[in-house]
Amino acid sequence: MIHVVADPEGLAVAGSRLIGTMLGGRARQTGAELSFVLSGGTTPLRLYELLAGESGDKIPWPRINVFWGDERCVPPEDMRSNYRMASRTGLLDRPLAGVHRVPGELIPEEGAYWYTQVLNSVFPGKDLPRFDLILLGLGSDGHVASLFQGSPGLTDREHWVVPTEEYEGTRRLTFTLPVLASARGILFLVNGKAKAEAVRQTLGKERVSGGQILPARLLMDMIAVKQKAGWECPAVSWVIDRAAAALLPSLGHRAKTAARQKG
Ligand code: 6PG
Repeated sequence: MIHVVADPEGLAVAGSRLIGTMLGGRARQTGAELSFVLSGGTTPLRLYELLAGESGDKIPWPRINVFWGDERCVPPEDMRSNYRMASRTGLLDRPLAGVHRVPGELIPEEGAYWYTQVLNSVFPGKDLPRFDLILLGLGSDGHVASLFQGSPGLTDREHWVVPTEEYEGTRRLTFTLPVLASARGILFLVNGKAKAEAVRQTLGKERVSGGQILPARLLMDMIAVKQKAGWECPAVSWVIDRAAAALLPSLGHRAKTAARQKG
């Protein structure tokens, strides 16, 4: 499902509503605790502020464990930490069942090992962890989480969490594609003109082949294969603002309509 909204504020509002629906619906289906994976970067900041405020009041926080799909290899108080970004919005002040911070302060290889242990303790005996909802952003280069084109982590099918090479000044820890593709639900939040080409290559109809496939397209193709095979696969929703949808002709038109309706 692709939702096109007029602007970043609309993206945060639509995202908060979808998260409420997805997590609330799952909570009604099961008596178990839920697992909600946050993304980093800047796009989700306003969303987390809304979830920390009255927009998030109906979400069953005491049943929700929070995780991160990737983290920069920095201490939690570092300006670049995804944990710090979420913490400063007040979202982690919600009465959560658990906050499973990625130990970015460790040596990357150690951090990957320990976060994998955390996931193994939450999903004991599983081939892959099955998160109820994973939030993802999209890099202008088409990366998801911290899976970058040409990086070994992108093709790793053995591990759940891997360290990456340096990107924008830090190494990172990231879930691998099989973990992302085993979620019950994925919500992509993408805004801005800089993402339009990555959106086009990820959601556009034309095939892209070989090493040129963007990580986000690789993930969507992996999910499509699972769906065609009748295997369990994530329900994927995209919330994209008009600027990021501009190169998808059909969506671009709908975005303009949405913007006109918004006035
Ligand atoms: C990170 C994120 C990363 C992010 C994209 C988009 O740690 O930076 O997990 O994958 O979602 O790079 O970032 P923006 O939201 O800042 O555009």
